Amino acid sequence: MSNDTDTPELEARLTDQDEFTPPESFVEQANVSDPGIYDEFDATWPECWTDAADLLDWETPYDQVLDDSNPPFYEWFPGGGLNASANCLDRHLDERGDEAAIEWVGEPADEANRTYTYAQLHREVNEFAAGLREMGVGEDDIVTLYMPMVPELPIAMLACARLGAPHSVVFAGFSADALSTRMNAADSEYLVTCDGYYRRGDPLDHYAKTLDGLDGVSHAVSDVVVVDRLGANGDGFDHDRPAAHHDYDAVVAAHDGASVSPVERDATDMLFLMYTSGTTGQPKGVTHSTGGYLSWAAWTSQAVLDIKPSDTYFCSADIGWITGHSYIVYGPLALGTTTMLYEGAPDHPDKDRLWELVESYEATQLYTAPTAIRSFMKWGVEYPDAHDLSSLRLLGTVGEPINPRAWTWYYTHIGDESCPIVDTWWQTETGGMMVTGLPGVSTMKPGSAGRPLPGVDARVIDTDGDDVAGGRAGHLTIQKPWPGMLQTLYENDERFIDEYWRVYSDTDSGDSADWVYFPEDGAKVDDDGYITVLGRVDDVVNVSGHRLGTMEIESAIVDVPGVAEAAVVGGDHDLKGEAVYAYVLTTDDHDASDALRERIVASVEDAIGPIARPEAVVFAPELPKTRSGKIMRRLLEDIANDADLGDTSTLRNPDVVETIQDQLAGD
Ligand code: WT7
Repeated sequence: MSNDTDTPELEARLTDQDEFTPPESFVEQANVSDPGIYDEFDATWPECWTDAADLLDWETPYDQVLDDSNPPFYEWFPGGGLNASANCLDRHLDERGDEAAIEWVGEPADEANRTYTYAQLHREVNEFAAGLREMGVGEDDIVTLYMPMVPELPIAMLACARLGAPHSVVFAGFSADALSTRMNAADSEYLVTCDGYYRRGDPLDHYAKTLDGLDGVSHAVSDVVVVDRLGANGDGFDHDRPAAHHDYDAVVAAHDGASVSPVERDATDMLFLMYTSGTTGQPKGVTHSTGGYLSWAAWTSQAVLDIKPSDTYFCSADIGWITGHSYIVYGPLALGTTTMLYEGAPDHPDKDRLWELVESYEATQLYTAPTAIRSFMKWGVEYPDAHDLSSLRLLGTVGEPINPRAWTWYYTHIGDESCPIVDTWWQTETGGMMVTGLPGVSTMKPGSAGRPLPGVDARVIDTDGDDVAGGRAGHLTIQKPWPGMLQTLYENDERFIDEYWRVYSDTDSGDSADWVYFPEDGAKVDDDGYITVLGRVDDVVNVSGHRLGTMEIESAIVDVPGVAEAAVVGGDHDLKGEAVYAYVLTTDDHDASDALRERIVASVEDAIGPIARPEAVVFAPELPKTRSGKIMRRLLEDIANDADLGDTSTLRNPDVVETIQDQLAGD
């Protein structure tokens, strides 16, 4: 990192002190402050998870905490009935109806801001649910939501939940192709989208992408609802709107004051599905349950983020990813707090935007990604220093490992050394946090996510399945089920078993103890049981905390005429954590050229979105291969990182390495 010399004392402190105890002022008021919780949950597992279920209102009490008779198809809280929207809205109305549920901060700066009280949010969710129901949306119909950070996105999620219709949110930054792939995979016949939105002050045409995406849907789409975000400002993007495309405001107005009673769902019914990247080209449709997932989102929000109803909690993630689902929408609203929703970028209109928001809304928690923290560091301390951040009580990070230097900067300059930091390891599949400290209990070690949460049996093991200790690297595994876990991959139980269980489980066994979940992360563990996550061990790149499959990117590249072969790897990047490096072989009739490089970049953006844009496209005469013909990805990563390559003599084509290095250097 280049310009952190403005805080030389940090460097010194880093070497002197690598442990921080939670500030006393925090511990005194923490939701969880009894260290005995770890032993207690171990002793009472799985019954301990009634603590999570008790945070919710159940229409029908569950018969059992966990049914593990058919692993890995675990059922949490079977027999129980509830509705997620009633838990996030209706039950708060008496006490908190006039309190803010959502503080929305829109772009352009401040002009569009809206506050939704719980009563207002409840009203609009009911109206929109009535509209969806009139269109024919019923229980188990999958509704795709393709929207940026506008309040209508959580409203639509909760309206779907009210009807018992699972939602499938597609990140607005994803391409038209990504939208059609996901709608096709889920056979989704309903779509809620918007005309456009703002990015750093400029309007962006989202409806054009939507229309392109709809062209790629292979079944009939019965209804599309369009939120008018740009209104008159979007005049430049005139599109013919088919008659079947409804205007969101008109739908809501037509059901003014409507009331839709929440549909009782079984605890094990699907609340939503979310596609994520894996080793193969086809995204995985992770399905989450109503009872287990919502309990998990609520319990971790309370225990780890220390959320209380009186808080104004700020998570800067996008709802298009799991972080936003669990920790902008479901967890915070289930607890009846105020959750902030920020549409814009952290550096627009200026680089102090987040600090200005923390100050003016008096935010009590900030949950963000290491990649963002590294940008803040680079921009300089003058931006946070210009604001009063004393309302903050807790800081969190998620999405990728945080380097100790960024941790210390966050702790000092944002937390003023008086806020605990929770470094939370989890995944789309886990539904919520799994390995992280309890902020009112745990000593913090920068760079390490910490111990597994109470009741979570996470262990680092070697390929024989034995525990690894003493800081050696192994594989992170979860040895017992947990309420927030994915239920399966949508309509693909076989792939669910293959992707997550096969490596470490006895898949013929009907005994839950023989089943081990493998999240495909490498990790190490120290003598205190603190887990440091080292990153993915599959072919997934983590760019700015977002998961991208290398196969998906490679197939977009080989689609370009003139490309014979491509290999994509993640290389280290100062700000993004990892960046996409593409090594490309041209066909005999094509030469490497800037024009070809541009077509490659464009094809990746079209297939996935700008987030997958390669940092470098390196034309290679050949790809380094083993004698058996396998591409040596690790070597390509080392080349991207300019790291020591070790022995390359076992390659079928060792000479190619130097040529590729030269190409990259001249890039
Ligand atoms: C992958 C999951 C968790 C929601 C956002 C990303 C990496 C996540 C951490 C952390 C080190 C982390 C892992 C994981 N990851 N949090 N605190 N420390 N690595 O969700 O897209 O499903 O990605 O992100 O590699 O497997 P996701």
